[in-house]
Amino acid sequence: MSADQALSFSDYSAPDENQQRLYSEMIENYIGNFPMPIGIVTNMVINDEPFIVPFVTEESSVIAAASKAAKFWAERGGFHARIDSVVKKGQVHFTWNGNPDKIHHLFSEIKIKLLDSTIDLTCKMRQRGGGITDIRLINLTKELSDYYQIDVSFETANAMGANFINTCLERIASVLQDLSELNSDENRVEIIMSILSNYTPDCKVTCWVECPVELLSGWNKTMSVNSFISKFKQSVEISKIDVSRAVTHNKGIFNGIDAVLLATGNDYRATEAAAHAFASRDGKYSGLTSVTVAQEIFRYELEVPLALGTVGGITQIHPIVKNSMTILKFPDADKLMMIAAASGLANNFSAVASLITTGIQSGHMKMHLSNILNQLNANEQERNLANGHFKDRTVSHSAVHDFIMLLRS
Ligand code: MEV
Repeated sequence: MSADQALSFSDYSAPDENQQRLYSEMIENYIGNFPMPIGIVTNMVINDEPFIVPFVTEESSVIAAASKAAKFWAERGGFHARIDSVVKKGQVHFTWNGNPDKIHHLFSEIKIKLLDSTIDLTCKMRQRGGGITDIRLINLTKELSDYYQIDVSFETANAMGANFINTCLERIASVLQDLSELNSDENRVEIIMSILSNYTPDCKVTCWVECPVELLSGWNKTMSVNSFISKFKQSVEISKIDVSRAVTHNKGIFNGIDAVLLATGNDYRATEAAAHAFASRDGKYSGLTSVTVAQEIFRYELEVPLALGTVGGITQIHPIVKNSMTILKFPDADKLMMIAAASGLANNFSAVASLITTGIQSGHMKMHLSNILNQLNANEQERNLANGHFKDRTVSHSAVHDFIMLLRS
């Protein structure tokens, strides 16, 4: 790496010294800030409330696709969403070499002691409406010798709650390993690990759009509504039966969800992992959406686990995240779940509706034209000429390259 390249890492440093220090202290072995574009999806209506939704994404067309679907559905009643439940879980994984009947017999007593041990840790969370809602013993000795879990359920109000959950679990583990009921000369609790689970099927949102079938004619003028619906249903069915299509279908959903999670400083890795496991809950990976047509009403639905937070983490310290929250009118965690789900459904609806009608490449490559022109270092005059030339022509990397080279020859 050249000295110039090394220095360029500081090109994106924040002008404010305190802010810059904050970035540099966010991670280890820090070398610089990494800029990503942030844009807005307009015309999003969720449960009758209008939103402008900030998206952070490096992919052209994602914002255009979501905005197109948002506008289309805003004119047809908007997105509808409900929170199904907000329970998160974590486990203390441990071995105990005693008789399984004994630990089961003792557990109702042990459970109270474990719960009591966390009272000081959960005090503030309980004031905010959260806390520990259940503690269970899970016997997995048939799968792994002497192996059990203490499975703890949490509600974490507006926080994603990872630190809170892990702190409680570690306290429970430390009490468990010293309990006189389970530790003697013959028997011992050995803690393996204590950690939240990012699988959050009980922290879940359902989001849907619906309208009389004839109103779908607005999406594509050349295809009949019956063909549109029939192909739409087939494409969703394909995502249920074929993993190759299911992954791409769900990726389209996460184009929107991840963009909102990045803009709001949420953990997109955790959310992705949970959603993909949820997509396999019946033993086969499949698409996360479903479509029905009943009594001439088209309904398209997304059910997805989303464990999000609007307090804690970087939500209160990252300046762009703070701006995103302002744009979103300071949602609580439930509302952010609904916004993220609606964004995912908007992107997916747009993708599927385009795929079964015009295909996505023409629109996508038009959006991609400016990326190609940037790669070719096109000047302003070349850009203007290229934009005019490709207005009615197919955009491809080689066609744009040839066009620019011709201008330069
Ligand atoms: C591209 O980012 C996303 C799509 O491939 C999703 C899909 O195929 O449904 C268009």
